[in-house]
Amino acid sequence: KQSLRLGVAGLGTVGSAVVRMVARRADALAAAGGRDVRITAVSSRDKGRDRGLDLTGVTWFDDPVALAASPDIDCVVELIGGSEGPARATVEAAIAAGKHVVTANKALLAKHGAALAAAAEAKGVSLAYEASVAGGIPVIKTLREGLAGNAVSRVYGIMNGTCNYILSRMEREGLTFEACLKDAQALGYAEADPTFDVEGFDTAHKLAILTSLAFGVEIDAEGVSVEGISAIQPLDLTMAEELGYRIKLLGVAQVAAGGIEQRVHPTMVPKSSAIAQVMGVTNAVTIDADAVGELTLIGPGAGGEATASAVVSDITDLAAGVQRPTFGRPSTALSPSQRVAMQRH
Ligand code: NDP
Ligand code: HSE
Repeated sequence: KQSLRLGVAGLGTVGSAVVRMVARRADALAAAGGRDVRITAVSSRDKGRDRGLDLTGVTWFDDPVALAASPDIDCVVELIGGSEGPARATVEAAIAAGKHVVTANKALLAKHGAALAAAAEAKGVSLAYEASVAGGIPVIKTLREGLAGNAVSRVYGIMNGTCNYILSRMEREGLTFEACLKDAQALGYAEADPTFDVEGFDTAHKLAILTSLAFGVEIDAEGVSVEGISAIQPLDLTMAEELGYRIKLLGVAQVAAGGIEQRVHPTMVPKSSAIAQVMGVTNAVTIDADAVGELTLIGPGAGGEATASAVVSDITDLAAGVQRPTFGRPSTALSPSQRVAMQRH
C-alpha cells in the first residue's frame, strides 16, 4: 500500500511533538493504520531555529498554504493556531486541494467548524480534530462514536489545562496568578495569546465543539456565556478552602427548558467531590447519557506529547482509511429561542 504522506504546518509545542512521535512510533503506526505514515513536508515561520528534529528528506515550505496545495502530501496537519490568518487559509487550501486535514485548532473550529465541515464533506475528505478538546483525552471519539447509541443530556468538566494548573498551584503553593501563568506558558500549555485561556474563551471553544457533538446542533461559540479566572485572588481560594470547597473553571452544556445551555465560569466544588481532585494540567470531562449513565474521562489536558497523542490517533484513522462525518450527529442550526435561552443564563 502507498504511504500516507503528511504535511505538518506549525512546528511549535504540538507540531514538534507530532514529528517526533511519528518517527518514534513508525512501526506501531504502520501496524495500526495498515500502511506507512511519513512526514514529507513541514512549514513554520523560522527555518533557522533548531527544534531538535530530524527533517532529513522533508520538504520545507515557508508558506503553509503552499504546503497545503503540494501534490506530494495526502493530509495536512494544521498546528499553527488561531481562528483566522495562516491557520484558516491553510485548512481551506488543503480542503480545496482535496487533502485530508487533522487539526488541534479549537478556535478555528469554534468559529468556522460548520463551514469547514461542509467543505470537507463536499470534497470527500476528512476534517479530524481529536486534539482540539482536552489534549490527550480521546473525548471526541468517545462522544461521537463510543456513545452514538446514547442520547446525551449533559457534558461538563475542566477543559483548560492552563487554568487548572494556575488554580492548583495558587491554592497549593500560595503562588501568584502571574507566576503560575508564566510557568504554564514555559511548559507549552498556554495559548499563544493566554487571554484565551484565563478569560475562559478556550474553554468556551471546546465546550461549543462538545455541545455540537453531544446534541447534534451546529457549533455556536457565540452562545456560550463566559467568565474566566483572571479576577480570582489567593484570598478567594483560601476562603473557598475554609468552607470546604475548591474553585475550578468549568464548562457546562446541558439540555434546559427552552434550549441548550452553554456556560463557562469559575465554580465552587466540594473538596470531597471527584472533580475537586483533578489538579494541575489534568482535564476531566463528564458525560451524562441515557444508556451508559455517567461517564468521566480524566487525563492530560495540554502539553506537546499528550496533544500529539490525540493528533496521531486521527492520523492513524486516516492511514486505515477510516473517514467519518465531521460532527457525526444530525446537525441542525439552533433556533433563535434556543440561543436566547443560552445567552440569558
Ligand atoms: P505554538 O505557538 O507552540 O506553535 C505554533 C507554530 O505555528 C510555530 O511553530 C510557528 O512557527 C507556526 N506558525 C505561526 N505562524 C505561521 C505561519 N504564518 N506560517 C507557518 N508557520 C507558522 O503553538 P502550539 O503548538 O502550542 O499550538 C498549536 C495548535 O494546537 C493551536 O491551535 C493550539 O490551540 C492547539 N493546542 C495546543 C495544545 C498545547 O498544549 N500547546 C493542546 C491542544 C491544542 P515558529 O515556530 O517558526 O515561530
Ligand atoms: N491552552 C490549552 C489549555 C491547550 O491550557 O488547555 C489545550 O487545548
